[in-house]
Amino acid sequence: MHAFYDPTRTYEDNLAEGPFGVPADAVATRAGTVPLWGERVTTAFGIPAGPLVGSAACAAAFRAGFDVNVYKTVRTRAHRAHPFPNTLAVHLDGDLTPQTPMPLLADDDWERASSISNSFGVPSADPDVWQPEMARAAAAAGPGQLLVGSFQGTVGSGDGSVESYVADHVVAARLVKETGVRAMEMNLSCPNEGTNRLLCFDAPLVARIARAVKEEVGDVPLVLKLAYFAEDAALEELVAATDGVVDGYAAVNTMPARLVDDAGAQALPGEGRAVSGVCGRAIRWAGLEMTARLARLREHRASRVRLIGVGGVLSVEDRAAYVDAGADVVMSATGAMLDPSLGRAVRSADRV
Ligand SMILES: Cc1cc2nc3c(=O)[nH]c(=O)nc-3n(C[C@H](O)[C@H](O)[C@H](O)COP(=O)(O)O)c2cc1C
Repeated sequence: MHAFYDPTRTYEDNLAEGPFGVPADAVATRAGTVPLWGERVTTAFGIPAGPLVGSAACAAAFRAGFDVNVYKTVRTRAHRAHPFPNTLAVHLDGDLTPQTPMPLLADDDWERASSISNSFGVPSADPDVWQPEMARAAAAAGPGQLLVGSFQGTVGSGDGSVESYVADHVVAARLVKETGVRAMEMNLSCPNEGTNRLLCFDAPLVARIARAVKEEVGDVPLVLKLAYFAEDAALEELVAATDGVVDGYAAVNTMPARLVDDAGAQALPGEGRAVSGVCGRAIRWAGLEMTARLARLREHRASRVRLIGVGGVLSVEDRAAYVDAGADVVMSATGAMLDPSLGRAVRSADRV
């Protein structure tokens, strides 16, 4: 597992020297035919926020035939990454569900990993640094390709009030828009942010932030990145509060698990890292279920939102299962890291 983001190197090394393990030859680009937010993309398939930490990695993803890619989440000011390592192989047969007995074994045995953990704490450069980088990433999209800029607000911004937190999201969105991206995603679901409740579970606050952001960015499509919702009522409340304001939902982000090494000690070093987000094969069920539930809500509401299905997509067949569940766009982070030819495989399956 070394493609795009190399887990055996630090986040800073990946940013400065990556991407790694991506074939140098480029796919042919052509005008797309698949409609998406007023654009036409070649395939509605790509890499979600995460492995693509800078413009070089985004450009490599486009060259490798991933057509809708997300630049890793940024903030309004510089924020350090958690200590290395940030990504571990997680060993679990089958699905990670709220009933899965904890802890799980996590180590650097990448050879037999189809699920991984990532624990970065959403690092960000200063906007003076990431804005030109994101602009270069957007410019690297060929015909039929689209870059999405991901951002989030920072708890404790300004005077620490809710107003400051809302304002921080608006500033982040404006800074992202200034880079020239033609779509953006607001991360409401980072399990490593250090808050005990994810923002996506606070529907009134999400609605307030989404309205303020949309007012700022106007026509630029805005997607909300969601965690797994155990309760239907909570998901319905979130959609009822934001449908008509936002242009899409992306689900699912990583799912939390307590990770230990083979001696039973905490696998990731440092305070607050006993529990970390798991992605890949073990959470496929959750991404598929969230996509299907969001698709049902969309139909029920006769809504025009677009759905991005994410989680455990390791093959062309997994991608097809997400399309069947109602996804308009499908994305793969762990799968692309395991197999950088997945973008090409999807293009072949779609005969483009
Ligand atoms: C290395 C890595 C870093 C990630 N960083 C982010 C991030 O910055 N923002 C975000 O919204 N999701 C982030 N994610 C979560 C992914 O976007 C995705 O929701 C999750 O990995 C599930 O997809 P997968 O099973 O294909 O990996 C990250 C995932 C990985 C593997």
